[in-house]
Amino acid sequence: MGRKQSLEANDEPKHPTKQENGVFDVAKLAKFDGTNSSQLIFIGIKDKVYDVSHMRQFYGKDAPYGCFAGKDATIALAKNSLTTEFIPKPGAKIYDLSVLDESETKALDDWAVFFDRKYEVVGTLKY
Ligand code: HEM
Repeated sequence: MGRKQSLEANDEPKHPTKQENGVFDVAKLAKFDGTNSSQLIFIGIKDKVYDVSHMRQFYGKDAPYGCFAGKDATIALAKNSLTTEFIPKPGAKIYDLSVLDESETKALDDWAVFFDRKYEVVGTLKY
C-alpha cells in the first residue's frame, strides 16, 4: 500500500456521508444507536429512516434525545414522550396512526417536516 493510500485510510471519517440505503425493520434500525462500531445514529419516523449521526449532542448516549437513537420514534414524537412507553420493540406490530388524536397527528406531521428538512433519509422503515 502506498503512503497516500494509507494516509487516506487513516483519515477515514467516522461518519461517512453516504450510508447504505435500504429497508430497515426495528431490529436492523436498533444496530444504529450510536454504540456500534460504525457509530452511526439513525432514527425512524413514520416510513423513513434519518441519519442524525452529526447531532450526537442530541441523540448520542446520555444526550437528551438519546432515547430515540436506533429507534422508531414515530409515536413517541406524536405523543411528546421521552419514555420507552411508545418505542416499539423488535417484532412489534406496525403502529396504528389512527389511534393518534388531531393534535398528536399535527405534532407528528410537524416533526416529519422538521426531520425531512434537517436530515438525510437513508432508508425506509418497514415492519
Ligand atoms: C421541558 C421540555 C423540553 C425542553 C425544554 C426542550 C428543549 C429543546 C431545545 C432547546 C431544543 C433545540 C436545541 C437546539 O436546536 O440547539 C430541542 C430540540 C428537540 N427536542 Fe426538545 N425539549 C423538551 C421536550 C422534548 C420532548 C418531550 C421531545 C420529544 C418527545 C423533544 C424532542 C426534541 C427533538 C426531536 C429536538 C430536535 C433535535 C434536532 O435538531 O434534531 N423535546 N428541545
